[in-house]
Amino acid sequence: MFKDLLIKKNVHFKSTWKSPANIAFVKYWGKIGKQIPANPSLSMTLKECYTETSVEFSENSCLSVELYLDSIRNDSFAVKIKNYLESLLEYWPELSKLKVVIYTKNTFPQGTGIASSASGLSAFALAFTEYLYFINSREIDSLFYRISSNLARLASGSASRSVYGGFVSWGDLSNDYATVVEDVHSIFSNLQDTVLIISDKEKKVSSTGGHQHMGVHPFKEARYQLAKFNYAESLKCFKNGDLEKLGIIIEQEALTLHALMMSSHNPYILLRPNSLLAIEMVKDFREQTKLPLYFTLDAGPNLHLIYPSSEKNKIQTFINHELSQLSIRVIHDEMGMGPCRL
Ligand code: DP6
Repeated sequence: MFKDLLIKKNVHFKSTWKSPANIAFVKYWGKIGKQIPANPSLSMTLKECYTETSVEFSENSCLSVELYLDSIRNDSFAVKIKNYLESLLEYWPELSKLKVVIYTKNTFPQGTGIASSASGLSAFALAFTEYLYFINSREIDSLFYRISSNLARLASGSASRSVYGGFVSWGDLSNDYATVVEDVHSIFSNLQDTVLIISDKEKKVSSTGGHQHMGVHPFKEARYQLAKFNYAESLKCFKNGDLEKLGIIIEQEALTLHALMMSSHNPYILLRPNSLLAIEMVKDFREQTKLPLYFTLDAGPNLHLIYPSSEKNKIQTFINHELSQLSIRVIHDEMGMGPCRL
């Protein structure tokens, strides 16, 4: 996919992108080799939770990366980007003579259960793809986002899905890049996601560590089969407008993810007591009101509350008055249209 994009010599170029976070409905949990997912995953791109990143590229005597997060120099993130660019030397040896200066900021606080790696690394991948296009005098075309998705995947799997808006799948049509789910019923337009921040403490095990546990997990084959089944069923729900069934699937996916953490060889628990209380309250609310409110979780204690925009008022009243008491912060978000160049 990258063979038409050559770097003969680095040049000076600046690119700025705004790229959103996403929430997985069917989870990517377990990978093979170089960022190949063990099962297909499916996510919704968010709107208000995004990263804005400016990248300045220029010729240098060696590969160097400087990164400023909220205007403060951050060497650990710079090392991550440097390692990533080093992993791309096999495609572009000239990257060994590139200077990269990055200014980045998130609209959401760090460690809040909203994956800043998906938004941050997709924003960087989009800027890098634009650099490759610029050097090759290529106008942004239909392949641009596919290439960005592929480059984002090599940095962080879930970032591959953030280069598109709406509902996005990865690991079905291709393992290399994500694609947009086209056949979606209008009931899912503006689907809401309110994030209930239960804790903002740094988690003990990273997602990358969690993926590694899956390689030797006693239930791994059963998990991959269930994920494939849930993925196929979710696509049917999107097509038929079956929000109720989709809601049950996303809850099962969330609880399975955490059950896999708790049953791995090095078991760990990321849920907090208030995560469990909030889950119970969501279920009770649904039973009593018959309103379609569902939850999902990423690899952390915070709940993503999913519901249709048609029930926004009633459901947000419940969230703001009752569920919010279990949390330190509430972020109301919804489905977004994907990244944009600034
Ligand atoms: C639970 O994409 O963060 O959010 O590829 O190692 O960077 P790496 O992992 P990452 O894993 C995301 C895991 C998840 C589920 C998902 O987003 O599909």
